[in-house]
Formats: sequence, structure tokens, C-alpha cells
Amino acid sequence: MMTAIALPQRKGQQGLVGTLHVPGDKSLSHRALMLGALAVGDTVIDRCLLADDVLHTRSALTQLGTEIDVNPDQQTVVVHGRGRFTFAPTVKPIDLGNAGTATRLLLGMLSRQPYPLTIHGDASLSQRPLMRVCDPLQQMGATIDLRADNYLPASIHANSSLKGITYQLPVASAQVKSAILLAGLQAQGATSIIEPVPTRDHTERLLRAFGADVERHGKVITLQPGSLLEGQSIHIPGDLSSAAFFIVAALIIPGSHLVLPAVGVNPTRTGLLTILEQMGAKIGLSQLETLNGEPRASLTIKSQSLKGITIAGAQVALAIDELPIIALAATQAKGETIIRDAQELRFKETDRIKTVVQELKKFGVHIEEKSDGMVIKGQQELMAPPADTVLDSHGDHRLGMMLAVAALLTGGKVLLKQAEAIGISYPTFLADLQSLLKSQ
Ligand code: S3P
Repeated sequence: MMTAIALPQRKGQQGLVGTLHVPGDKSLSHRALMLGALAVGDTVIDRCLLADDVLHTRSALTQLGTEIDVNPDQQTVVVHGRGRFTFAPTVKPIDLGNAGTATRLLLGMLSRQPYPLTIHGDASLSQRPLMRVCDPLQQMGATIDLRADNYLPASIHANSSLKGITYQLPVASAQVKSAILLAGLQAQGATSIIEPVPTRDHTERLLRAFGADVERHGKVITLQPGSLLEGQSIHIPGDLSSAAFFIVAALIIPGSHLVLPAVGVNPTRTGLLTILEQMGAKIGLSQLETLNGEPRASLTIKSQSLKGITIAGAQVALAIDELPIIALAATQAKGETIIRDAQELRFKETDRIKTVVQELKKFGVHIEEKSDGMVIKGQQELMAPPADTVLDSHGDHRLGMMLAVAALLTGGKVLLKQAEAIGISYPTFLADLQSLLKSQ
């Protein structure tokens, strides 16, 4: 029997009030560790996320002979760069847990090692498609065997050469793009990637910060190998995907007033802010600053009314991880919200179209599953699920956090199963949510 925990509960008219520093960006933390391992000299990473997913990247790099020191108090990590692309051999399979980003990126980064390697992960990660990554890597000269031609475990064959390619991405995926770029660093000749729509460009920005030659012209990103990667001092901004839960919570819970300092606002990640603006929200951005090529700002959010909209096309990739919490925001908006062109949600930590619909229905919400998205009725009152109904994160951190915010709307006692999944990206999330509940 899996135990369920009671989620934070609002007392009376409590809103979310105060200032919160959300943990460092997960996408950037993975990338900073990886590029730090490849670079010459030390890389000091400030505000590195130390949550399950990133800890798997760290342990993989350590297993491959990289020295990494962690100072948990200051959230500072020092990577002693190897200064080369070849890692130490390991016969033990590399365990990446639930970490999709680590898996995709490491497949690219490790596709030219002079000895074989095996990568595996947990049950959820082992159901997520990998052919989308291995197909371009094989075109570059790598040989990777996947279970049933698409899934972990993956066996990367020993390899001594890769060649640059021009590759049109069939799906909008920053993970696939990044895997190709990391392989491209070690290839003969230039690598070009054509994106159907823009996806998060952290790899490109960080590669440039480390000294690599990466350029973007329209939809085409081109990397010229051969530049020296040099260790850097990297300042990771707060993760907008973690801040998203507090942004939406503050908007929809009356009496809220939150300040979230130094949150990453890279324009390829801010789809959530644009969507909320279209829904009528006014979110304050101040103290804009760019470090290591990554902009950050302080966000100020007060509770306010929203209206339903249609979310489709290029907007989807810019808010891909925020769609579960946007679905919750939509339940409180005036009018219907339609999310389409979001079939990629089916390949995340869970099938997020199915699990979001299934779990929100437990609050009595009218929400309809579509093949590529969902339709959400607005202005709904969420009811605490009956005593015999327990919410389930399904092992998906973002689903768990969205459900914790949904539970606050009910004012009642709500139980969540597999709540520990939240630790994949935000171990102190529930404590932070509880600490902000205040009567003004
Ligand atoms: C990520 C890219 C996105 C996102 C994931 C993190 C990254 O996945 O959903 O949480 O760090 O590159 P896709 O690129 O596969 O869409």
C-alpha cells in the first residue's frame, strides 16, 4: 500500500503572501554540470538545483570519472573539468532514475566514447521514446541499441568518430536538439539543426558562455566544433517551471501577494507569462539582469481574475512544462480554455493529457481529454475529493505540485499519493507552499 500525505490546507481566507526564492533551474543545472565536466579547468555553479533529477546527472558524471564537489548549504557546486571529451570507462550501467533531460543529453554527449556504456532508468523513464534522439545520433555515426528500438536500457557502442550533419527536427524538442549539439561538439565538420518552432535555447547560450561556436540564423542553429571549452562561473536563475506553481497559485487564490526574485525569464521559456497575460493577468517584472547569457527578473504577482483563451501552435513549446498548471488556472478563468497542438505532453514523465484530466476530475472539474490537448470549462468551484478518493501524482513531479495548488482552492483536507515525486525537481515545495499561507 502506498501511503498518502495530507496537502497544505488554507485556513479561512488565507492567501499566499511573502517573498520566495525558488530553486535553481533544472534544465540549466543539468547543462552546467555536463559542460563543466567537458571544459578545461573548474566550473563553479551557483544555485545549482540539488534535486533528484540533477543528482542523477551528477552521479553519472562522477561514475564517469568527473570530480564534483557539492556545498549543500550554499548550493554551490564545483565541477573539476576533464578538459576532454573522453570519460573514464565504467562497466556498471549508468542509472538516470526519472531524469529525461539527463538521458537525452547524455546519449548525445557519450555517443563517441572508446568503450561501450549502458544507460537505464526507472519504470516511467523506460517508457519514454528515445528513437527521436538516437536516429540523428546514428546518422552522425553512433551506434546505440534500444529496447524495442525505442526505450531504455540503451547500449552505446564504443565509437571513435562522429560526423556533423544537417538535421531537421521532426518534433519540437530542446532535449533532442541538445543531444545533437553535444555530439556535434565532438564531430568532424559543422552540425546544423533546423527547428520546426523555437524551443528552449539554454544549451546554445551555455555553450557560447563556455566558448563554443554556436550561431542561430532563423530556424537554423549551427555549431562549429573545435573551440576550447573553458570552465566558467555560472549563476543559475530560479526555475520558472517551479515558480509557475506559485505564480498561478497567487493569481487564483484570493488575498495573495507574492514576490519571486531572480527567476529565469529566457524568452524561449516564458510562454507561461505570455499565456497568463493573454488570460488577462498582470505580472510585474523588475530587476532584469542577464548573467551567463541567461536573463532573470523579480516577479510580483497579486490575485486577479483571468479569462479563458486558446493555446496552440508555437506557444505550446514555450510553455510545455507549464501546461498542467495552466489547465488549473483555466478552471478559474471566465470562459472556456482550449489547449491544442500539445500531443508532446503524452511523452513527459506521465501522459500529462491523461493524468491531468484524470486527477482534476477528482475535484469535480469539467475537463475534456483531446488527442492533442484538453478543453477546460471556466469558473468552476473545486471540491475536496470524497474521503475514499486519493489524488495521485503518478510519480510525476509537476502533476504533484499542480494538485497541491488545486487542493488549496478547496479549503478541505486533500490526500496525495506518491507525493515524494515532487522531489524530482523541488524537494521543499510543500513546505514552501505552507510557509506562504497567511491571512493579510
Ligand atoms: C527540457 C526540455 C523539454 C521539457 C523538459 C526539459 C530540457 O523537453 O519538457 O522538462 O531541459 O531540454 P523536450 O525538449 O523533449 O520537449
